[in-house]
Amino acid sequence: MIKFQVNGVSRQFDGDPEMPLLWYLRDEIELTGTKYGCGEGLCGACTVHVNGAAVRSCQTPMSSLAGKAVTTIEGLSATGNHPVQQAWRQVNAPQCGYCQTGQIMQAVALLKQKPKPTDADIDAAMRGNICRCGTYQRIREAIKLAATKPAAKAPAAKPAKTTGGAE
Ligand code: FES
Ligand code: FES
Repeated sequence: MIKFQVNGVSRQFDGDPEMPLLWYLRDEIELTGTKYGCGEGLCGACTVHVNGAAVRSCQTPMSSLAGKAVTTIEGLSATGNHPVQQAWRQVNAPQCGYCQTGQIMQAVALLKQKPKPTDADIDAAMRGNICRCGTYQRIREAIKLAATKPAAKAPAAKPAKTTGGAE
């Protein structure tokens, strides 16, 4: 039995320990904001946080989560108003939107580590997050805008209890 948290909610898992976290999030607890892109750790669409660090959930086995805290895009803010999400909206960062939850989760992790990132910091942190629509310039602009918001580096707010899956 693996015990962990997702967005502040205690969870238990006793299935295949090698199952990727992405499968669990989308198929077992219906947190579908995290996207499947390549399934091979190459695109970043599936990025979530484990203990505050950005990870590729398609490459994160359930067995690695014991005692850890997972945050998904749904857990970033109960209202969708995390400062990084606000900045994303202000610059109209998304085009089709498919990659954007992964981009936002990667950006939030960057801003926690580097509250005032340089262009080089942004490029280094974001280079593994692929956008087939080519929104990279707006993503960079959104990250810089978010860096001007004092709460951007604050820990993610604990949302109201989510539904679905074993508690
Ligand atoms: S789906 Fe996980 S990195 Fe592409
Ligand atoms: S906005 Fe379409 S893939 Fe990034």
